[in-house]
Amino acid sequence: MENINNIVILTGAGISAESGVATFRGPDGLWEGHRVEDVATPEAFARDPDMVQKFYDERRAKLDAVQPNPAHQALAELDQKWPGDLLLVTQNVDDLHDRAGSQRLLHMHGELRSAWCLACGERSPFAGKMALDPACPKCDQFGHLRPDIVWFGEMPYQMERIELALAQCDLFVSIGTSGAVYPAAGFVQSARHYGARTLEMNLDPSEGSLYFHESRMGKAGDLVPVWVEDLLTNV
Ligand code: OAD
Repeated sequence: MENINNIVILTGAGISAESGVATFRGPDGLWEGHRVEDVATPEAFARDPDMVQKFYDERRAKLDAVQPNPAHQALAELDQKWPGDLLLVTQNVDDLHDRAGSQRLLHMHGELRSAWCLACGERSPFAGKMALDPACPKCDQFGHLRPDIVWFGEMPYQMERIELALAQCDLFVSIGTSGAVYPAAGFVQSARHYGARTLEMNLDPSEGSLYFHESRMGKAGDLVPVWVEDLLTNV
């Protein structure tokens, strides 16, 4: 194993697929029966807030029925045992990395179990139904909560921190993402530009597959534990 100290890992919907969470770009191009732009844009929320709230309420409720799978668990083990820098950047809004125990974790597209109050601007942990227009836990005002989800046309969270980590990493690993949505889809090119080795693990080649030094095709639940074990035995 070449000298690896700093690792950045990007995950997408594919890592949660084996837990039973739907991916975005299925064969029919729909996401749980909806076009993504009908539910995941600020315009959709302005046009029909109730429909958008109910859509995310349903997804939030479904989290109770799913569990982290061996891929989430392996990444949490890597986080606990890796002596160098490590940053797990997930595009996923589920909480399966958190529940598996990953600490050095950043949700660049937000979180289902978080509410953003448009009255006071604060974010709070959230477990119920936003369609019922509950009060903000921070300012007590009713009717101003929105899902703390980064929609199309909005800026993903903590981009400066991510860019810095990409510039400093020796290894960039992408797991379970189609590479269709920027800026995440461009991380591999940034990491390579700064000299990192790049590896992708996905069910099928992502849109940016040619940018990776190595591509491993298969299920995350099979590939990730093997990769982590290999990495940790060589520490
Ligand atoms: P996609 O649904 O676009 O892609 C999921 C990828 O995972 C596909 O390439 C699948 O082949 C792969 N996959 C499926 N099952 C897998 C498995 N068991 N093991 C490994 N790979 C598997 O999801 P994302 O790339 O995450 O953004 O989508 C990116 C963003 O688009 C999302 O974060 C979301 C969406 O719009 C926002 O909500 C802002």
